[in-house]
Amino acid sequence: MTWLITGGAGYIGSHVVKAMTDAGESVVVLDDLSTGRKERLPDGVPLEVGSVLDGELTGRVIERHSVTGIVHIAGKKQVAESVARPLHYYRENVEGLRTLLDAAVRADVARFVFSSSAAVYGMPDTDLVTERTPCLPLSPYGETKLAGERLVAAAGAAHSMATVSLRYFNVAGAVSPELGDDGVFNLVPMVFERLEAGESPRVFGADYPTADGTCVRDYIHVEDIASAHLAAVRRLTDDTTASLVLNIGRGEGVSVAEMITVIQDIAGRADLVPEVVERRPGDPARVVASAGRIREELGWTARHAVREMVASAWEGWRLRHL
Ligand code: WQD
Repeated sequence: MTWLITGGAGYIGSHVVKAMTDAGESVVVLDDLSTGRKERLPDGVPLEVGSVLDGELTGRVIERHSVTGIVHIAGKKQVAESVARPLHYYRENVEGLRTLLDAAVRADVARFVFSSSAAVYGMPDTDLVTERTPCLPLSPYGETKLAGERLVAAAGAAHSMATVSLRYFNVAGAVSPELGDDGVFNLVPMVFERLEAGESPRVFGADYPTADGTCVRDYIHVEDIASAHLAAVRRLTDDTTASLVLNIGRGEGVSVAEMITVIQDIAGRADLVPEVVERRPGDPARVVASAGRIREELGWTARHAVREMVASAWEGWRLRHL
């Protein structure tokens, strides 16, 4: 088996590459290096530089490396940017996927793992989100992920391809500083940035219908995300008829206020008092996974707690920014 990992030089992709190579899987990476960095790849992992939108290139890569399965992680992932640039998001995330699937089908690749997101659920009206909870995405980003899942399932059924779509909840942390996230668009790095500037962290709304009034999320260590991909790949190695959609979460809700307390503690800036500001438009009050189906289907559960996520993210942040 050789697995093609698209987006393998990115934050999540490079963790998946590490988990898979550590476990003895043969991998090749396709990445356009728009946000990825080749320094994130372990020695010896082949890197093909290019876009999934280039069907001829992906066809050649699949053939050259005798690829037997694909883990498709490449994509655009910023909710606000997707509102400003929906055409760009549909092109990159949906047309990119369609082009890749087309190349995969032409080359008889029989296994496909797709990176989806809890963004497909939108504003779920339930304590624990199961894979049967209705999907009503609130942003073009979430729509492209839902469209992607449906395309993956339909193409899998039509072309005898076993598929798994993995819905990531709120990813944080890193296994080592060099694999950390460079972006600053999520809670953990946004709070780091404020603390570093000597400013109070900002809480986007404290009047939500939750225990402390702040939004509740299911934060998951990127190393756990990576081990879930390994479990999916192993499943598809044996099971060539699978068609699965699975949450990757811990099943535990953590509020923004609780998260900020942990972040300040780890960053040694508990002195700064968080400031409550306006709600951010479109934020659901609570999005927490039911992690039951992935445990049943793949035998996978998360191992890392919130403190470890934040501590590992802080280590990388310090090295890169201070
Ligand atoms: C978490 C909570 C904020 C910053 C998004 C996408 C999701 C996935 C991850 C891509 C919210 C609050 C944040 C701050 C705050 N993306 N917050 N102060 O919005 O849950 O999920 O990113 O794959 O699909 O929707 O994540 O980290 O932006 O926010 O109070 O300075 O922290 O309002 O409640 P979110 P987030």
